[in-house]
Amino acid sequence: MNSTAMRTHMCGELRDAHIGSTVSLCGWVARRREHGEKLAFVDLRDHSGIVQCVVDNDVDVRSEYVIRVTGVVRARPEGTVNANLPTGTVEIGDCQVEVLNIAEPPPFPVDQRADEVDEGIRLRYRYLDIRRERMQKNLRVRALVNSAIRREMESNGFLEVETPLLMPSTPEGAREFLVPSRKEPGSFFALPQSPQLWKQLLMVSGIDRYYQIAKCLRDEDLRADRQYEFMQLDAEMSFVSQDDVLENIGRAVVAAAKAVTGEEPPTIQRITWLEAMNRFGVDKPDMRFGMELVELTHVFSGTEFKAFAGAESIKGIRVDAKVYPDAAASGRNKLDALTDRAKKVGAKGLVWIKVGPDGTVESPIAKFLSEDEIRSLVTAMEAQSGDLVLIVADNWDTTCEVLGTLRNDIGRPPVHEGPYAYVWVTEFPLFVGVDPVSGTPRPGHHPFCHPHPDDISLFDTDPLKVRALAYDLVLNGWELGSGSIRIHEPELQRRVFNLLGISDEEADKRFGFFLQPFRYGAPPHGGFAFGIDRLTAILAGEENIREVIAFPKTQSGADPMTSAPTPVENSHLAELGLRLLPPPATS
Ligand code: AMO
Repeated sequence: MNSTAMRTHMCGELRDAHIGSTVSLCGWVARRREHGEKLAFVDLRDHSGIVQCVVDNDVDVRSEYVIRVTGVVRARPEGTVNANLPTGTVEIGDCQVEVLNIAEPPPFPVDQRADEVDEGIRLRYRYLDIRRERMQKNLRVRALVNSAIRREMESNGFLEVETPLLMPSTPEGAREFLVPSRKEPGSFFALPQSPQLWKQLLMVSGIDRYYQIAKCLRDEDLRADRQYEFMQLDAEMSFVSQDDVLENIGRAVVAAAKAVTGEEPPTIQRITWLEAMNRFGVDKPDMRFGMELVELTHVFSGTEFKAFAGAESIKGIRVDAKVYPDAAASGRNKLDALTDRAKKVGAKGLVWIKVGPDGTVESPIAKFLSEDEIRSLVTAMEAQSGDLVLIVADNWDTTCEVLGTLRNDIGRPPVHEGPYAYVWVTEFPLFVGVDPVSGTPRPGHHPFCHPHPDDISLFDTDPLKVRALAYDLVLNGWELGSGSIRIHEPELQRRVFNLLGISDEEADKRFGFFLQPFRYGAPPHGGFAFGIDRLTAILAGEENIREVIAFPKTQSGADPMTSAPTPVENSHLAELGLRLLPPPATS
């Protein structure tokens, strides 16, 4: 399949079975070593691997030269087999070498040693970086993910529809990239943060099951799991319940994981948002490890200890001496560092209790607790001698956030380390908190998520308790994707807008282009989108999505290879009706 007019085989595919065959190979010189006076070994590389070629010493080939070698596959002499190389039992002898192109010395070794090279240099010469086995593997994992998703979505009746990149500015959470219009100076297109608007319109259009492997763009600060440009599997379905969406998306994720690992991934667990917060303190729980939050409010219901008395929520985590051998022995420095961290996240303080033999405890607050409280605490935490218990007393949001953060800080393995733990988090709140200025609730996700039908009666009495039919998919503590059942009923949409403090007129002004089509027969519908870069990174064993993107931006948002973003000529700006302000003063 890989043979062409210039080659018969790929370098990495040659084995004992090929011994005796005459082959032509093309690739790059990975390494050249002298072998006596007359001969040299040339390791020839293509994307499939490396094979050793024995060439005349007078052939002038150097690192990264592009060459074509024709020779005979033969067994390596005894004692020279390389067990670390899949082609290590053979070599190519009687080689004729044709230099197809010379190369300047590469700025870094084109092999695993480049992992140690500054990432800026790797990205500046990304075309060389991609020649390496790691990047070749990652891009191939990515392609496997994409093709498995496509196959699965199509076999489940989804239709691939492409949607525009140039669209009006819409409120979707992150900052948009804007594109100035030449034909209408002063007006702008926005690049899509996601195809959300379009896919819902496609449901109105009767497409029924839409999907797209879509490029999305968001002008947000970059980090390990965020790029300006990223890819989503984006999907939307009509006449469905939440379960239908989760099942279909789940199948696509499973198909992608299986295509890469060859193994059936574990069942995707399901928990509600409230359970996730109570057990793990965060809405993207990493369920690969324990150290769950334990409710202790009842233990201290009648306590004399001032910092606990009357607290809305008291929770603890138990740091197992086996998991964190230093836990009980933690010196003051370590405990002070944990306390500082807890305070940074919002706690007023952090209580630590070292558990000793026979339920004894050591803690600065031990003297304020009754024997009963200490006994109940040790029992509730299931603490053994050697464990460290960390406790926060505050409002519910704070105890969750602080202990969820400490749990991750202390116990979380690197994101790509197995076992894989997939979990659906469902029933996110429809509103989160109240705007301090207007006093109206703030939307949890976006204002188009359908409220849980059982909670609509709470709209007027306790809106912050209303759950949404909104769900996330989490893998090893990374948010892989999110979605919701959407509001398709204009009257319900109006009620949600009104609760958010958006009048009918304002809603029409801001979202009219989106709401109007819903008056022409919108089916009940819902959907989901997950990040292909994030899924690929975890499946490829990478900690940063940059490693699975051919040409990513650096953490500071630049491309060292092309130097983008770059200034443009004033004439170009003038054509777009733009003039630059002086750069902001730097302090
Ligand atoms: P959301 O905004 O949660 O939902 O995005 C879905 C998923 O897209 C990925 N993602 C990113 N990946 C890399 N870099 C980024 N900057 C970035 N931002 C998001 C994440 C995330 O979970 N339209 C809705 C989905 C829906 O409701 O159907 C949406 O885009 O993996």
